[in-house]
Amino acid sequence: MKFTTAEALYQKAGGKRNGLPAWCYKNSELTQLEIEEVFLKNWNWIAHVSDIPEAGDFQCLNIANERAVVIRDNDGQVRAFHNLCRHRGSRVVAEDKGHCNNAIVCPFHGWSYQFNGELKNISRPKEFPTLDKSKYGLKPLDCEVWHGLIFVRFSGFGPSVAQILTEADQEIGLYKIADMESCGQPWHFDFDLDWKTITDIDKEGYHVAMGHPELFDLTGSSYRDEVLECGLSRSQGSFKNRRAKTPLVQDYIATLPVSNHLPESHQHLWIYWGMFPGVVISLSPDTVEVYQIYPAGFQKSVMAGACYALPDQRPEMQKARALSSAINNNTGEEDIRLVKWAAQGMESSAFDEVLLSDLEIGICAFQNQLRELIPVMALDQAPERGSLKQVNQQLLLRRKTAEIA
Ligand code: FES
Ligand SMILES: [Fe+2]
Repeated sequence: MKFTTAEALYQKAGGKRNGLPAWCYKNSELTQLEIEEVFLKNWNWIAHVSDIPEAGDFQCLNIANERAVVIRDNDGQVRAFHNLCRHRGSRVVAEDKGHCNNAIVCPFHGWSYQFNGELKNISRPKEFPTLDKSKYGLKPLDCEVWHGLIFVRFSGFGPSVAQILTEADQEIGLYKIADMESCGQPWHFDFDLDWKTITDIDKEGYHVAMGHPELFDLTGSSYRDEVLECGLSRSQGSFKNRRAKTPLVQDYIATLPVSNHLPESHQHLWIYWGMFPGVVISLSPDTVEVYQIYPAGFQKSVMAGACYALPDQRPEMQKARALSSAINNNTGEEDIRLVKWAAQGMESSAFDEVLLSDLEIGICAFQNQLRELIPVMALDQAPERGSLKQVNQQLLLRRKTAEIA
């Protein structure tokens, strides 16, 4: 793995360590551009193959105004579509997760679609002019299954998930995620704040020592964040030979049995792989958790995820999973509080800018990626109202011209 250095990352940020300017966290035009350029054109995680095991099983993902549905077809293939009826635009599945019998039937007027997206029947066909059914199928989305994880992309083109995650492939492959099953309830938190406030906290482990007493008790100062040259991030903490102080962590370490599918090097590690913009694959010897952070609109964000594990009925493994889940839940609640405080801080009249350390390179790397796609985010002041998209376009053009020259 090729890692990058704090020096290189901050140099790319123009030598600045003050992060994104505060206006970037409260500008509706920027949020809209981020949705279009960052989220719709990149891969988002939607489900695990075990979430939709049977033909007709489906699961949804909504990012701002875009709605995706993945469904298992009759040949066992995973298909992804816009959750959008071709008649008048209703969602074709009403729930976020469920099962369709025989066909996808739109809840508005009853048009039905095959699981492969083809239009099957329309209600009261005689009331319509002759219709070429082949032109009215559900609109497909880019979809890729990688190690049992299903990803969708709403628009654009670029490298596949497998290409983006090449450097993570060997390590993540150890965990046999494709053979896993859902473990516990999926979770979903809505926030009334900018999505980057959550990502900023999620991208650095500097706060672990103060902000997460149990996670810190588990990994101590072994916790570290790394950024790869390819743009992925990787964090890890080890609890090998760790003498924990908190009862929860002591119990977890004492209970966790050997995970037979993992080499010795990974028996005592918690690892977090981050893929731009918001996906995190969190690996522990007992459970794998996948989660992501994304905008739901202006000042509206979501952090949601789910856990998966290999079938293992050993009581000690069941108990270890419950304990690691408790540590994760506590960590999550602590993060929610920190996220809210960070957002409130930016509203204060006394707030000017942040100062990033070498332990917060994950933030710098993530913001560099954002500035690469949306250069307007490098400006100290917000462009005049109504002009952000245009100013950004000019900056992109200027960069292209400079590259050619
Ligand atoms: S909107 Fe779907 S059937 Fe009318
Ligand atoms: Fe945290």
